[in-house]
Amino acid sequence: MKRITIAIDGFSSCGKSTMAKDLAQEIGYIYIDSGAMYRAVTLYSIENGLFKGDVINTEELKRRINDIHITFRIDPETGRPNTYLNDVNVENKIRTMEVSSKVSPISALDFVRKAMVAQQQAMGKEKGIVMDGRDIGTTVFPDAELKIFVTASPEIRAQRRFAELEAKGQEVNFNEILENVKQRDYIDQNREVSPLRKADDALLLDNTNLTIPQQKEWLSMQFNKIIKQ
Ligand code: DC
Repeated sequence: MKRITIAIDGFSSCGKSTMAKDLAQEIGYIYIDSGAMYRAVTLYSIENGLFKGDVINTEELKRRINDIHITFRIDPETGRPNTYLNDVNVENKIRTMEVSSKVSPISALDFVRKAMVAQQQAMGKEKGIVMDGRDIGTTVFPDAELKIFVTASPEIRAQRRFAELEAKGQEVNFNEILENVKQRDYIDQNREVSPLRKADDALLLDNTNLTIPQQKEWLSMQFNKIIKQ
C-alpha cells in the first residue's frame, strides 16, 4: 500500500495531537509532535538560564542551538512516543504552564524554526508519517498528500486543557489557561516567521462540537479516500 505524508495543523489545545497520535497508531505510521520540539527548546532555555524573566537571551540560544538534540522514543507501556531532550525523557516537563507561557517567543525565532524544520523534514523523508503543528502543511511538508487544519473555540480549548492539567495533578486556574490560549493564538497567527495559517489545499476541521470518536471517524475517512486514489 502506498505511504503518504499527513500534515495536521491548527490552533493550540484543539486536540490535534490526540487525533494525530491515534491515526498514526491505527495506520502504523510514525507520529511526530512538532510542538514538543519547540517546547523542548524552551525547556532547555529555562534550565540553562537563558531566560531573564520572560526575555530570552537570543544570542546565547543561537550559539547553542546545535547542542539541542530532540528525539522521540516509543514508551513500551503506552505505545506512545515520549520526547527526549539530549537523551533525557522530558515528556512531562515540557507540558507545564511555565513552558507553555514561554514557548511562543522561542518558536518565533527564525534560527530556531530553521533548525527544527530541517530536523522535521529529515524525519519525514521516507513518508509514512503524521506530523502535527502550525506550519507542517505550509512550510515543512508543502507537498503532503493529506493536510488538515483543525480549529475549535478558545473556550472549549481552554476547558480541555484545564481538564488535562488537572488530571495530571497540576494546580490550574481556568482564566489563566484561557488567557494563555488566546495569547498563543494571537502570537502564532501574527508572528513574522511562518505564521499559523491554513494551507490552501488543507481540509478544515472545526471540532468544537465533535466527540473524539466522531473526529476519528472523519479523519479515517479522509485518509482512506486518499489511499484509494
Ligand atoms: O502544539 P503545542 O501547543 O504543543 O505547541 C507549542 C508552541 O510551539 C506553540 O506556541 C506554537 C509553537 N509551534 C510552532 O510554532 N510550530 C509548530 N510546527 C508547532 C508548534
